[in-house]
Amino acid sequence: MANHVDLTAIMTALGGRQAMQDVLGVGASAISNYIARGSVPTHVRSKLYNALTARGYQVRLDDLSILCGPDAATSQIKKPMVLLIIGGGIAAYKALETARRMQQLGLDVTGVLTKSAAQFITPLSVAALTNQKCYDDLFSLTDEAEMGHIRLARSADLVLVMPATANLMARAACGLADDLATTILLATTTPILMAPAMNPAMWAHPATIANQAILRQRGIHMIGPTEGDTACGEIGSGRMSEPADIAATAFELAVKRPQSLAGKTAIVTAGPTVEPIDSVRFIANHSSGKQGYAIAVALAARGASVTLISGPVALPAPPQLQLVSVQTARDMQAAAHAALPADIAICAAAVADWRVAEASHAKLKKPDHRTDTQMQLSLVENPDILAALGQSDQRPTLLVGFAAETEDVLENATAKRHRKQCDWIVANQVGAADDPVFGSDQNHIMLISETAVENWPRMLKTELADKLADRIAMEFGT
Ligand code: CTP
Repeated sequence: MANHVDLTAIMTALGGRQAMQDVLGVGASAISNYIARGSVPTHVRSKLYNALTARGYQVRLDDLSILCGPDAATSQIKKPMVLLIIGGGIAAYKALETARRMQQLGLDVTGVLTKSAAQFITPLSVAALTNQKCYDDLFSLTDEAEMGHIRLARSADLVLVMPATANLMARAACGLADDLATTILLATTTPILMAPAMNPAMWAHPATIANQAILRQRGIHMIGPTEGDTACGEIGSGRMSEPADIAATAFELAVKRPQSLAGKTAIVTAGPTVEPIDSVRFIANHSSGKQGYAIAVALAARGASVTLISGPVALPAPPQLQLVSVQTARDMQAAAHAALPADIAICAAAVADWRVAEASHAKLKKPDHRTDTQMQLSLVENPDILAALGQSDQRPTLLVGFAAETEDVLENATAKRHRKQCDWIVANQVGAADDPVFGSDQNHIMLISETAVENWPRMLKTELADKLADRIAMEFGT
């Protein structure tokens, strides 16, 4: 039985009956009908959902009830709270930017400084930025009177530790509670996310490896570290993940979404594929994998069981899903086939269309003579993973492809949807000098289905992933 929909509340939010008629493209009598029935068909539900979310409302999927108005700051609804434990490392200053980004995502942040973190940033700067008291002392009588450390630990929707230093990780792994930060880690019952940052030799040390394994086993989520220059001047793994990535992961973990895709299985392909030319060279492309990863995370956050099949990317493995790392298009196809059956498949990978017919096992040498300066490579076509899923006996119920087009986006993407037999195509224009998609955090797409073309506004790739995941849930009627 369809859920009751409060159409009067929706009408008010949209700006009246006429505005609602315009959104739905129907006359007054249809609206009266919907109000009388207290329910709407699925395609109408999806239009109303889009119109409300585009106006900044947070809307529940099952009955379109409005959770939160466009100005969440003035709303009475409690925002999810992140307890931000800042460790004593040079990357501590990045906690401030992360706090700001989390606030932009609609999270409340309360800071906790370790004693050594206070050598790098002040409690005052954290308090000023977060608009909340910053805690730093386990034995403060005033703090205990206002908010005991146990209540502080329990009041959060997520505890984020950044930078997670080798020392802080070791103390947490041992279960020490000798300061406020470690006491909170021991007392909290909410999820914990750690963003390690340290010297590459410290990160690679067997003691840190063992501590990290213990923390992961206990269900603590990790983001990073990544490869690159570290503050101490050494290059290697130990650099803290970027504030934007940490904030996005914190958001996913802190916001308890309705498990609208619980019980559903999903395959997501992401990133580039890499096709060897010889033992040292390859053909690849600029895909960063960000959009595919964000979609996989959004589906998993709604309770779907997700297999993310990824080409080589510089992104951390997301929590709560199965990551299968591949190199070539053929590896990706084999992994996608192995992950069937699935309810949902989303092919966001930029698969190389061609591979070298016979990749050399040894490094190809230049010819000795200098007369012929041309090099010929013989290429053969790679399998089309999306098209194969479309024709499979085990075709997923909802198959979604991407179309990156440099021109005639709508025509080319519509033709691609037919050719590859998928239900939806997410189409975007690539190659415009002033609007990069590859590597960017934003995307601007059209969602093309059998019956409609929707032009979505430019938004963050993470927002797009959330909107797409909500649309998918709606398609399954959940
Ligand atoms: N795709 C795939 N396997 C391939 C090529 C593409 O699964 N060998 C999928 C992509 O993941 C995407 C969709 O097909 O979902 C379209 O990819 P795109 O590169 O835009 O299209 P192509 O099929 O490569 O066509 P063309 O390059 O001619 O536009």
